Amino acid sequence: MNFHIMTLFPEMVLDGLRTSIIGRAEEKGLISLEAVNIRDYTTDKHKKVDDYTYGGGAGMLMQAQPVYDCWKTICENINKKKDSETKPRVVYVTPQGEVFHQKKAVELSKEKDLIFLCGHYEGIDERVLEEIVTDYISIGDYVLTGGELAAMVMIDAIARLVPGVLNNDESAQTESHANGLLEYPQYSRPEIWHDKKVPEVLLSGHHAKIEAWRMEQSLERTRLRRPELYEAYLLANPSKPEKNKKRKEGL
Ligand code: ADE
Repeated sequence: MNFHIMTLFPEMVLDGLRTSIIGRAEEKGLISLEAVNIRDYTTDKHKKVDDYTYGGGAGMLMQAQPVYDCWKTICENINKKKDSETKPRVVYVTPQGEVFHQKKAVELSKEKDLIFLCGHYEGIDERVLEEIVTDYISIGDYVLTGGELAAMVMIDAIARLVPGVLNNDESAQTESHANGLLEYPQYSRPEIWHDKKVPEVLLSGHHAKIEAWRMEQSLERTRLRRPELYEAYLLANPSKPEKNKKRKEGL
């Protein structure tokens, strides 16, 4: 899978992503990361990429021209490697987008090429957004100084789902949010630490019992910490918590 990031700060994005697991995935050729500097595409002789907002208001706006030309070059380069012409999805990372979640990460991980557009200043001229953006996505209801950190968060979440990126494929299936629930608590050695003992069932070697205990813990943790996720899970899986309830009630 190929990630193309349109940004004014390419080093920030690449330095952040080219470490640890995502960096190794790139070295192995499982993904590629390309950060393209929008400033390189401005036709302004002073290399300016922003200007005042029509109608007044605080701050500067990124102009349409450099953003459009940068996008066009990225698309041309992608299509050079292909027989047929395709228009890859363009994600504009913005607090005005739909909030990113694991299902969206799974959906986007199936794309071959994905372009991220990182804004700065007060945003980007609406006209270019209308022409090139396919997805408006936020990482949460708060405002960052620019889109780079948000793009890095999304790229990390998406890239780790690409087959082979995680050593243990199973961990992506059992982790929090994979099935709409938070993950159960986990324990490692020693068996007793600060007078706290690892739950007996985990030492039993009884796989069915361990699985049932983990499911119960996942449900309870989700109910307490993320009630809205719990409610959604109950709606989608009406039979599961009933079983759980009966077990708790000794039925
Ligand atoms: N840019 C600034 N704030 C953002 C946010 N919360 N999500 C995505 N992009 C952003």
